[in-house]
Amino acid sequence: MADSQIILITGASDGFGHLVAEKLLAKGHTVYATARRTDRMCDLQDKGAHVLHLDVTNTEEVQKVVDQLIAEQGRIDVLVNNAGFGQYGVVEAVSEEQLKYQFDVNVFGMHRLQQAVLPHMRKARSGKIINLGSIVSHVSAPILGWYASTKHAIKGMTEALRMEVRDLGIDVVEIEPGAVRTGFEEVAFDALDKVQAPSDYDTVVKGMTNASRNMYKSAPGPERTANAIVTAIEASRPRAVYKTTTDSHILPLIKRLIGDHRYGAMNLWMARRTL
Ligand SMILES: NC(=O)c1ccc[n+]([C@@H]2O[C@H](COP(=O)([O-])OP(=O)(O)OC[C@H]3O[C@@H](n4cnc5c(N)ncnc54)[C@H](OP(=O)(O)O)[C@@H]3O)[C@@H](O)[C@H]2O)c1
Repeated sequence: MADSQIILITGASDGFGHLVAEKLLAKGHTVYATARRTDRMCDLQDKGAHVLHLDVTNTEEVQKVVDQLIAEQGRIDVLVNNAGFGQYGVVEAVSEEQLKYQFDVNVFGMHRLQQAVLPHMRKARSGKIINLGSIVSHVSAPILGWYASTKHAIKGMTEALRMEVRDLGIDVVEIEPGAVRTGFEEVAFDALDKVQAPSDYDTVVKGMTNASRNMYKSAPGPERTANAIVTAIEASRPRAVYKTTTDSHILPLIKRLIGDHRYGAMNLWMARRTL
């Protein structure tokens, strides 16, 4: 077994975060599992996790969680910046409020966590930050434009941070899954339902909804992505980026080969076929 590490995970109540927590506990690591729905982490608590309420949009709560972890453990080895959701909806119709909340969770949430843990990691000249990116930081699609924009932001920030802290002994890793069956799909479509789009967009919204629903039916489960996160945590020299699904390897290549316009046409053709 690799040396036992002190690991803070955001968004551990479901999907990747929950499975990663389970795997790390089984390997004997010390896990701080956090999310808003603490009732969904009772099983992790039974397995030895420290379960804490954390809404990543709440700066004071982020600081409180990190302070508690440091008071109890004296150090933090790894932050898994995983909490996030997809605000689906056509670009024009997503409201300013919905968009601000999307960035508050996906982007500012990561910033809050990083600001809280980095002083401890810099002081120790050691640590690892693992940020959940996505294939959509390379290839976007109708109805997920604003979600994709948060993952583009995360990619740009993560790459810069990796260089900034390299000589301080801190590793920064980006995880890039494609479509994976977790709680993500339902949350994204619930968010889409709350977007009031003009009827001009009916065809694209319906087509993309059907295409995306079909894609998720045959999408892999979270196992491979969770394994990649655990590998990155335990590696003494982790990769900069882990692409964790077949589509996250292939779709950016296809786009590069056929060009932006043909890639867009292909997306729309696939959506229209489902109508
Ligand atoms: N599944 C995919 O297809 C896919 C693909 C690429 C990237 N990703 C990324 O992977 C990450 C994890 O997603 P997932 O697929 O595992 O989805 P999931 O099953 O829906 O899990 C999302 C987690 O994020 C937490 N979360 C959401 N809002 C939060 C907030 N304000 N504060 C704290 N926690 C919050 C949720 O916990 P609570 O609701 O209990 O707070 C939940 O535990 C996300 O960053 C997502 O963008 C997913």
